[in-house]
Amino acid sequence: MRIGIPAESRAGETRVAGTPETVRKLAALGHQLMVETGAGERACFPDDAYAQAGATLAPSAQVWDTDLVLKVQAPTDAELAYLKRGSLLVGMLNPFDADHAARICAKGVRAFALESMPRTTRAQSMDVLSSQANIAGYKAVLLAATLYQRFFPMLMTAAGTVKAARVLVLGAGVAGLQAIATAKRLGAVIEASDVRPAVKEQIESLGAKFLDVPYETDEERETAQGTGGYARPMPDTWLARQSALVRERARQADIVITTALIPGRTAPTLIDDDTVRAMKPGSVIVDLAAGRGALANGRSGGNCTLTVADEVMVRHGVHIAGHTNLPAMVATEASSLYARNVFDFLKLIIDADGQPKVDTSDDIVAATLLGHDVSMLETA
Ligand code: NAI
Repeated sequence: MRIGIPAESRAGETRVAGTPETVRKLAALGHQLMVETGAGERACFPDDAYAQAGATLAPSAQVWDTDLVLKVQAPTDAELAYLKRGSLLVGMLNPFDADHAARICAKGVRAFALESMPRTTRAQSMDVLSSQANIAGYKAVLLAATLYQRFFPMLMTAAGTVKAARVLVLGAGVAGLQAIATAKRLGAVIEASDVRPAVKEQIESLGAKFLDVPYETDEERETAQGTGGYARPMPDTWLARQSALVRERARQADIVITTALIPGRTAPTLIDDDTVRAMKPGSVIVDLAAGRGALANGRSGGNCTLTVADEVMVRHGVHIAGHTNLPAMVATEASSLYARNVFDFLKLIIDADGQPKVDTSDDIVAATLLGHDVSMLETA
């Protein structure tokens, strides 16, 4: 099979969907790899490394004119024009943007949106949301440490004692748990909150304190269980009590990392203007939900109402970082893990003779095939 790996063209995207490691493995299976010249450059994978791994370096048009195209992000409208009818496309295709997904399907390709991967044990090695969220959680803490004008660890120095930084993590999924682990390594004191009761133990096992907002009704208790491992929007009664607790804890915190998401929905608002006002000058908020929150002044915010997507700003003396693509700031590792996820996924859609095999009785194939199974979008 001819497999194409184009350079990513969306602004700020530094990752690449295939690395010399995965290209070598695919070439060993008898596939012909076409990598766009310079595709791996921003992730520190030079053209030479791809050539040595067995790929042919080629201009964009040739790379798109293949049987299977591997992408990080969904193709732009301009790139859609290159897609060859009957080919396969694999990437993070943003299945929640129904219009764009329909435009991809209309090209007559079989497209696989890896974000729709079921959260099952078998799917773990292909779970791109986990591999990338893990990196985002790590980088969020390092970013916070850079913006914060004090130390993270408690230190006893000749000039006096330095207190440990207090970190508040809101949303303890994959990104939040990695943020806790990273902040812990730097010596911070950490508190964390989530709607799902299952994470209490995970938070505590990482050495952080779980902020409990007890459920008062059966509806709250039932909603908090989530669906397929994901959170569901909580009733307003619970959110109001959570908000009061968050405001109180944010006042004491030096760093707040917010990661709360609900697939296919607007990210919940956890920090409002009043809460930011109540925070200490010099505190830092890193908002991983930037660009996915409620609209404010015509732009999507994040878990914090003052977040501006892709900007770092100071409001009421607090730094608020709204990067929307933190994995792209760790491009080499993010690409390496993503490319391995993709390589494992390809085993499901290529048969032993190297031919396409799209078997929708396989739950992973069915869930990721755009236009095939929308059950996850409906239940989210
Ligand atoms: P996510 O990125 O969709 O959401 C991040 C976190 O925000 C979640 O923990 C969610 O509960 C939380 N959240 C949502 N609304 C909130 C609110 N109002 N306040 C506080 N927190 C809120 O979730 P992610 O990180 O992609 O994964 C969710 C879970 O899925 C994981 O923690 C894990 O349990 C499960 N999972 C299972 C896998 C497997 O079995 N293969 C692989 C990866 C994740």
